[in-house]
Amino acid sequence: MAPSSSSRRAEAPLLLLLLCCISTAVTSQSPTPASSQAKTLYRVCRLLGFPPALAALAKAPDPCALPPTPSLTVACAAGQVTALSVLGDRRPDPAWRTALPSNFSADALFTTLTRLPALSRLELVALGLWGPLPGAKLLRLGALQALNLSANYLYGAVPEQVARMYSLQSLVLSGNWLNGTVPSLSGLAFLHEVDLGRNRLDGAFPGVGKAVATLVLADNNFTGKIPAEVASLGQLRFLDVSRNRLEGWIPSAIFALPALHHINLSHNKLSGQLPASTACADTLEFVDVSANLLIGARPACMRSNSSARTVLDAGNCFRDAKLQRPSTYCSPGALAALLPPPQGSGAEQGGGKGGGVGMVLGIVGGVVAGALLIALVMVVVLRRARRQHPGVMALPKSPLIRAAKKGDSAKATAKMSQKIATPADKRHASQAAMVNTLEVPAYRVYTTEELQEATDNFASSNLIKKSALAQITTASFKMAQEFW
Ligand SMILES: *[C@@H]1O[C@H](CO)[C@@H](O)[C@H](O)[C@H]1NC(C)=O
Ligand SMILES: *[C@@H]1O[C@H](CO)[C@@H](O)[C@H](O)[C@H]1NC(C)=O
Ligand SMILES: *[C@@H]1O[C@H](CO)[C@@H](O)[C@H](O)[C@H]1NC(C)=O
Ligand SMILES: *[C@@H]1O[C@H](CO)[C@@H](O)[C@H](O)[C@H]1NC(C)=O
Ligand SMILES: *[C@@H]1O[C@H](CO)[C@@H](O)[C@H](O)[C@H]1NC(C)=O
Ligand SMILES: *[C@@H]1O[C@H](CO)[C@@H](O)[C@H](O)[C@H]1NC(C)=O
Repeated sequence: MAPSSSSRRAEAPLLLLLLCCISTAVTSQSPTPASSQAKTLYRVCRLLGFPPALAALAKAPDPCALPPTPSLTVACAAGQVTALSVLGDRRPDPAWRTALPSNFSADALFTTLTRLPALSRLELVALGLWGPLPGAKLLRLGALQALNLSANYLYGAVPEQVARMYSLQSLVLSGNWLNGTVPSLSGLAFLHEVDLGRNRLDGAFPGVGKAVATLVLADNNFTGKIPAEVASLGQLRFLDVSRNRLEGWIPSAIFALPALHHINLSHNKLSGQLPASTACADTLEFVDVSANLLIGARPACMRSNSSARTVLDAGNCFRDAKLQRPSTYCSPGALAALLPPPQGSGAEQGGGKGGGVGMVLGIVGGVVAGALLIALVMVVVLRRARRQHPGVMALPKSPLIRAAKKGDSAKATAKMSQKIATPADKRHASQAAMVNTLEVPAYRVYTTEELQEATDNFASSNLIKKSALAQITTASFKMAQEFW
């Protein structure tokens, strides 16, 4: 039989009173905040399999009173643990999985650590930690400023939650087995130290915030280019991205970053030529660009060692340095080298004592400019000729213009826009449509890529033989055809 609602209402105050009594009893028996922190630390010791480094902690009645040692530091403020630093000795153990209890769980460890809400510095080094980093638990360590988990056996990716640990100043995960990608850390405004070295991380060069002073990505599998944004890290002092698979141009402004002391780009696939105008910061002490695919001459600030600066450059294809490889070795990077660097300093390439790349760029530019000029002349000549002899010219007309001539330009444009697929086509169609409505002479803007495509990259087979204008390529004709 269910109790009536009125009898329930009568029971309610009684229940409340009972609950109050129980909770008071529990509170009076429960440990003070400091000893609850001690319990949490003891649980951490247990989860870590009582390593020797933590022996003192496991026995201490008040961990906050422990004097710091090289292998263990506990710092507290107002009875709350603010720093825990443990340096273990499990680094080289090949049987790493047995160093910790077989039921070890990184997730359980970090869940326990979330019971230290004031923790701002956490160092668990060489303790044999293994498993993926529990991102959601890390995010719950809201006060964390420094995280150092180096020399363990953590694997998997750097979890995306790390990108939201906004109070983080130092992130050290070096010497693990991390083997995924790294999220962009560019939202972490206070992050000044990032060390992800000696892992198996891959993917693109990760984004970092503007406060970064130390950035170590060495000994991983990062691919792609060094992003141009790295050249805007005004605080950067130490950059080590050696031993990855980075490729393409080096944003040369990096070397001039005002705070830079040490830059190591060695053992990558970085290619092209460093512009002759490349400057080095006065503070720069170490430059290592060795074992890449760099060509041409070295910029002046890297041509010699001095008491203030050591430059290592062996194992490239520099034409003016010792211990270099034959130029064929760097040819995989040569194609990238022909394209201008992202910051548009391509024009400076020829500024050196003889940039081979600069010269090639100059020649290509000259040919393109020449072809455009000749094409313009051809257009005028052909137009005149057609006006004088309308029947003679049999060049096919562009469908758009032909339709437009029938006074049907709107339909033609619609038809055209169904056919067009690429953005370039769209641009041309709109240019042509505009030309139609304005009734000005038809013209088109050609990009270098289009010219290269039309001429098979200026292949000699496209040269018009025995013509007075021997350097005109058939591109001129293809262009001329579209004007009619
Ligand atoms: C990480 O912690 C260990 C142990 O305390 C220390 O020796 C090392 O210098 C720390 N690394 C960084 C980058 O703080
Ligand atoms: C691991 O196993 C031990 C007993 O060997 C047990 O006391 C402990 O609670 C277990 N830990 C976890 C996280 O399951
Ligand atoms: C990373 O390593 C772990 C353990 O060796 C493996 O299970 C996982 O598939 C690897 N992940 C990637 C992305 O390679
Ligand atoms: C880097 O990636 C390549 C190809 O994916 C792989 O063969 C190699 O083992 C990786 N190196 C490391 C250190 O993970
Ligand atoms: C740069 O890195 C390579 C490989 O990681 C290392 O051997 C070399 O000593 C470093 N250069 C400098 C100047 O520290
Ligand atoms: C600087 O000295 C090192 C040896 O310490 C040498 O390998 C390197 O080639 C020198 N660099 C230059 C630019 O001469």
